[in-house]
Amino acid sequence: MIIAIDGPAAAGKGTLARRLADYFNYAYLDTGGLYRAVGLSMLRADVSPEDEVAASKASLSLNSALFTDTALRDEATGTAASKVAAMPQVRANLLEFQRKFSQLPPDGKRGAVLDGRDIGTVVCPNADIKFFVTANPQERARRRYTEITARGETADYNEILADVQARDARDMGRKDAPLVAAADAHLLDTTELDIDAVFLRAVALIEEKQKPQ
Ligand code: C5P
Repeated sequence: MIIAIDGPAAAGKGTLARRLADYFNYAYLDTGGLYRAVGLSMLRADVSPEDEVAASKASLSLNSALFTDTALRDEATGTAASKVAAMPQVRANLLEFQRKFSQLPPDGKRGAVLDGRDIGTVVCPNADIKFFVTANPQERARRRYTEITARGETADYNEILADVQARDARDMGRKDAPLVAAADAHLLDTTELDIDAVFLRAVALIEEKQKPQ
């Protein structure tokens, strides 16, 4: 069983994906983490995230320490990730790993949940079920703001909103694998639905799919 979840930054897709993977005991892959690791390795090496040759090289040899680096979730890493994610060579280098994960999930799990931007369209076009999780930019910026200030850090709402909008524009506007809902994806708008309601709706749709036809 392959569950594909796509959507813009901070729409709640990671939370939904993790909860579904827990509930069904499936493997979970946060594909944004792969692009973030490439972006972070560029920042750590003090190389511009616009450097295509260096980004392609970095995407072929990701050090596992990058995935536990506390800076992986930083806003600056997200921005660098969305720059390297626009490079076709970087995307091609990361594609095989994602496809293998979905087809042969680790630990003998009987299913996989992948979240990202192009899972339902490019990575797993034949996924058993697809979700497109979205929320308006103001609500997504508000969530990011609350998350950051809850950690005791300071944040500027308008700056976060501008970042969210710039990242949306880059992710939706790129030529290779742009962020778009697959034609057969179920749309889940989290602007007004809370995460529990979204989760229950997704579980019901998946269980319907799992019933013998
Ligand atoms: O989801 P997250 O914010 O961690 O993703 C970081 C960036 O990685 C996104 O803004 C997007 O540019 C890129 N990405 C992508 N394709 C995916 C997952 C993430 O292009 N499947």
